[in-house]
Amino acid sequence: MHLKIALLAGDGIGPEVIDQAVKVSDAIAKKFNHSLEWTPALTGAAAIDAVGDPYPEETHQVCLDADAILFGAIGHPRFDNDPSAKVRPEQGLLKMRQKLGLFANVRPTFTFPSLLDKSPLKRERIEGTDLVFLRELTGGIYFGERGRKDGGNTAFDTCTYTREEIQRLAIKGFELAMTRSKKLCCVDKANVLESSRLWRETVQAMEKDYPEVEVSYEFVDAVAMRLVQWPNSYDVLITENLFGDILTDEASVISGSMGLMPSASVGTENALYEPIHGSFPQATGLGIANPLATVLSAAMLFEMSFGLTEEGAEIRRVVDLSLAEGIVTEDLKEGDAKGNSTTEVGDYLVKQILG
Ligand code: IPM
Ligand code: MN
Repeated sequence: MHLKIALLAGDGIGPEVIDQAVKVSDAIAKKFNHSLEWTPALTGAAAIDAVGDPYPEETHQVCLDADAILFGAIGHPRFDNDPSAKVRPEQGLLKMRQKLGLFANVRPTFTFPSLLDKSPLKRERIEGTDLVFLRELTGGIYFGERGRKDGGNTAFDTCTYTREEIQRLAIKGFELAMTRSKKLCCVDKANVLESSRLWRETVQAMEKDYPEVEVSYEFVDAVAMRLVQWPNSYDVLITENLFGDILTDEASVISGSMGLMPSASVGTENALYEPIHGSFPQATGLGIANPLATVLSAAMLFEMSFGLTEEGAEIRRVVDLSLAEGIVTEDLKEGDAKGNSTTEVGDYLVKQILG
């Protein structure tokens, strides 16, 4: 198979972790007889510096022309400490999601048997955890009307959802649930918010189309609590943009390191794969960034964009090996033990694939 992939390394540790995912993907292509065509393009602070726009039109074209997009991270502290900055790297991410129509953000949380004691939660609480959030990504308060009034002394952000936006996300949730344990949880705040009541009403009306799926409706505050008490009681969860942003960060630490969880953002035409972690600016260039979340994002790319399940499984196999053998970056080492470098971890994975 010939796969055209747009490569958006982005900022901070993005380029380092992306390099490892490219190496691993190239090794997979070699082993399974595919040809990969990578087209790099600028995003984030790097794109602001080069052309003054965090998601330039040229990058958008590269993404449209590709079969899938592999993305590193976006963000730079120089903008965080400057509230008056007119252009921010994060705007690039939001623009990209919107222009590519990436309305569903798939964020899994699972545990690795060899890392159960690395989690901040007790082993017996997390054993067997394997859940997936489907976060709505192009609507809600992120994209609603916002502004200031009263001479700048009052600010507002609005959360708007249409029935159609909820339905298309919920369809993905029901379909995913059908391939798993057939349990779906709709996370909302329907006891307070009108937009949440529309979520609940819409999902309830869809239940008859998926009679095998058992749907539960839970308030977001209760989910935040149960997620750290009994994460293994959940399977597929659907939710709106901001709730999903917060809950998926909470869920991401369950596995033991922020550096492990991959994600996919999908629409009808495009799909983008990226690690859940951010650009980790303090670590840039030090060779300590964990590449596994990006490598696992490449596994999701093979599986979800191209249906190449054996290829995805091979990546997961070698990632499990590196964890079991302790060929890992410092975030996963015991005590003061020195970690392997980002590149060493990538090299190890390649070696295991090509045997
Ligand atoms: C994420 C990030 C982004 C978000 C930021 C960087 C805009 O936190 O992908 O979760 O809030 O969606
Ligand atoms: Mn976030």
